[in-house]
Amino acid sequence: MIDVMNMFKARMYMKRNEPFLYSWHAYVGYELDLFKAFERPMSKFDVADAYQLDENLLDQWVSVGLSIGHLKEAGRGRYKISHAWKLPKPKGNYSSGVLLKEMMELHIPTLLSYPEMMRKQSRNHFDEEKHAPTVAETSRLLEVLALPKMSKKIRENDCKTVLDIGCGEAGYIQKLAERFPNTEFTGIEISPAVTEKAQENTRDNENITIENADLWNYHPEKQQDMVMMNNVIHYIDLEKRQELFTELASWLNDGGILSVVTPIAGSVEDPPFANVFNSFFSSFDNLYRLPTRDELAEWGEEAGLEMLGIKTVIKEGSWYIAQYQKRG
Ligand SMILES: C[S@@+](CC[C@H](N)C(=O)[O-])C[C@H]1O[C@@H](n2cnc3c(N)ncnc32)[C@H](O)[C@@H]1O
Repeated sequence: MIDVMNMFKARMYMKRNEPFLYSWHAYVGYELDLFKAFERPMSKFDVADAYQLDENLLDQWVSVGLSIGHLKEAGRGRYKISHAWKLPKPKGNYSSGVLLKEMMELHIPTLLSYPEMMRKQSRNHFDEEKHAPTVAETSRLLEVLALPKMSKKIRENDCKTVLDIGCGEAGYIQKLAERFPNTEFTGIEISPAVTEKAQENTRDNENITIENADLWNYHPEKQQDMVMMNNVIHYIDLEKRQELFTELASWLNDGGILSVVTPIAGSVEDPPFANVFNSFFSSFDNLYRLPTRDELAEWGEEAGLEMLGIKTVIKEGSWYIAQYQKRG
């Protein structure tokens, strides 16, 4: 009887893990540009030769691709991609593959280090310089969904100055600056490599200034009509979050808007992804857990801001945009 139960459980774990194969296969294909290689019918030998790859391992990767439907046979020993719309685009085209890369190279190895961390009562250290470029690029995937909510507030409040804290590659301010040519946008970013990328991206935008600065040592030259802070809260120590909200509120003109994008977690009703995100952040000594909905309300209230609302950006990832207004 016990053996039957064991067998049943083992099968269940395998079945539940099946989706991982799709992600793994897509990740390898993205990382090595293999989906591009097999865009047209190609033999394994030709691809291994052209890309200087181990032929046996490529052979295995192709076999998995055939069994999960990422690849199909194309005659005369050649193979070709199948269901192209499901596969990540090649690197550098705002490809969804960057999310796979972050998951496979950063999130999963970190989650797998849990037993060791728990036994040793130790933490990993988040290597900002190493991961900042990938993380900044992944964050950009959310832009399309969050932008309309930011634009709406800029339009409604006729904002003439907008400051973006931890602006990453400046994706948000660049799109907003094009939509609002008479508004002055400033972005600050702590990572020198990411700042450089942001400056490069916005070189032709006359109404954008990007500065390499730590938000804790920064003070804007003038009061702002809107301050944005997107996907930055998990970089902030729990004890300093209230202080940060109070500081950001002090940079706003009366009637000014604070707009914050963040995942929310901490309650059993939040989707599993959000709670696992928290497991990930908590395993670093320099990243911190996500805020709860109540905390977001409390920090705003304490900083003299009126909560305008918390709206969904991506439900499955528990991603939200919280917007506040400074009481006049
Ligand atoms: C997850 S990325 C988000 C980028 C962008 N805001 C977005 O949502 O696409 C967070 C960014 O905040 C930056 N950052 C973290 N701590 C900071 C600080 N103390 N001052 C300024 N920037 C900071 C990081 O380097 C990183 O580029």
